[in-house]
Amino acid sequence: MAWHKTIDGAAYEVSGEMGRRIVVTSGKGGVGKTTTTANVGCALASRGHKVVLVDADIGLRNLDLVLGLEKRIVFDVVEVAEGRCALRSALIKDKRFEDRLWLLPAAQTRDKEALDEVQMEAITRELAGMADYVLIDCPAGIEHGFRNAVAGADEALLVTTPEVSAIRDADRIVGKLGERGLPTRLIVNRIRPELVKAGDMLSVEDVCGVLGLELVGIVPDDEDVIDTTNRGEPAALAEGTRLAAIYAKVARRLDGEVVPFTNLEPQSLLGRLWGALAG
Ligand SMILES: Nc1ncnc2c1ncn2[C@@H]1O[C@H](COP(=O)(O)OP(=O)(O)OP(=O)(O)O)[C@@H](O)[C@H]1O
Ligand SMILES: [Mg+2]
Repeated sequence: MAWHKTIDGAAYEVSGEMGRRIVVTSGKGGVGKTTTTANVGCALASRGHKVVLVDADIGLRNLDLVLGLEKRIVFDVVEVAEGRCALRSALIKDKRFEDRLWLLPAAQTRDKEALDEVQMEAITRELAGMADYVLIDCPAGIEHGFRNAVAGADEALLVTTPEVSAIRDADRIVGKLGERGLPTRLIVNRIRPELVKAGDMLSVEDVCGVLGLELVGIVPDDEDVIDTTNRGEPAALAEGTRLAAIYAKVARRLDGEVVPFTNLEPQSLLGRLWGALAG
């Protein structure tokens, strides 16, 4: 057993093994980074992992809302970086999971420059000493906020929708992540099988062909995502649903399991039944 010194000076015991630090990024805004961070985080915690979700979208925080934890925020990541509170005090425990899921919220009222890469790296390193997975919800773009979020990660999960503009931005991100040597995996979000079938939407194969990344998830465009987001109850928590099954498969793939993909079918009744097997 080793002792780990925290950035605020306290010491606690760790097993010696560090958790994985994964940035969830996209380039283009609004493609589903925050949704993915919340749902994959819940799916990993459901598998028994200790997970910390870090909202790195300074000034535009959202992850707290998607998780339904917004009323419990006392401190934020900028206050931790400035040494105004202990990291432990800023972490919000998600009571739906016993000691397995925490949120480190972003500052809402501060600008993006309030945090730098060195501070972010130190915070996520400390979190990796206490958790199996640290997922970092990245802001859109390739500016300061992106660089910060990436500085705190050893791996990346790239989220894109099957639209040309999103894929083009994603491709730029692949280049930036490659420069930093980050292994990067892909989630294709908001697929609409009926449009793919009609030739009106790029298929997952097309997207993978352009980006050349290992695929870990195909998530359909589904109103339940919006509905559950608005209620602060991530879809991955609703056991027995197709979305929960899909995010569970993503978690298993991140854990290194080989889980086959099934084609998503259009949302007829038959399609829904079939879709429950997809992911
Ligand atoms: N698979 C999906 N099906 C339907 N709606 C979705 C899906 N994924 C995300 N959305 C919706 O798309 C919107 C944007 O999602 P989200 O906030 O996760 O994107 P983001 O990439 O984090 O955005 P930003 O760049 O602003 O941080 C939200 O309203 C969300 O509910
Ligand atoms: Mg977001």
